[in-house]
Amino acid sequence: MKAVKLAPSILAADFARLGEQVVEAEEAGADRMHVDVMDGHFVPNLSMGPAVVESLRRVTHLPLETHLMISDPDLYLDEFAAAGADSFLVHWEGNNNLHRTVQRIRALGKRAGVAINPATPVAMLEEIVQDVDLVLVMTVNPGFGHQHFIPTTVAKVRRVRELIERLNPACELEVDGGIDATTTRLVVRAGATVLVAGSAIFDDRDGVTAAMARLQAATHQPDEQHEPAEQSAL
Ligand code: DX5
Ligand code: ZN
Repeated sequence: MKAVKLAPSILAADFARLGEQVVEAEEAGADRMHVDVMDGHFVPNLSMGPAVVESLRRVTHLPLETHLMISDPDLYLDEFAAAGADSFLVHWEGNNNLHRTVQRIRALGKRAGVAINPATPVAMLEEIVQDVDLVLVMTVNPGFGHQHFIPTTVAKVRRVRELIERLNPACELEVDGGIDATTTRLVVRAGATVLVAGSAIFDDRDGVTAAMARLQAATHQPDEQHEPAEQSAL
């Protein structure tokens, strides 16, 4: 099985202590930091912009991944790249020129990923998966943290894994939304290789380090709670 990476989503962080919490996540083994950008149009919420990326660039060596939940991502790529973003996740939905957007990201020397919402069919990835470094399967509807994982997305992750193996095996398969120790096991088993987690990391009563350790342990034991043999032994 491929090594699973953790991408803490700072949307759930305490913004008054953002730098401190990001450094803690880095020391606890985060692979990259996930920055959710929302414009109040593409999703019904507002979040952060390039200034946050610029500040984070000064406190962490980790790659900064920007998840653009905005209506016209092309308008802001330069600004985020200049601020220090290392990769972009752009949505299939609402983009009439997705291939062009991906080319622009590549021209900036950045990693490009395509994200699909829960109601978007896997088949929509067929003509773009060979041009991207990662695919992001939304396991909640985009726009908010703290939502419940949508169970039908597990089978979808499995179908995306098959598509990736067929067309671009080097592509990462990332999931975002409602990821905790329980859902981690399901999505890793289905073929996810990068897990975005916000509330499960930054809202854990025991703190960021303990929360990261719990998620990391779950990635190493993807089958534990779901094998019939284990269940009957309880
Ligand atoms: C939702 C964002 C997610 C969000 C996940 O639109 O894309 O990255 O921060 O939050 P949790 O892990 O709390 O579901
Ligand atoms: Zn996100």
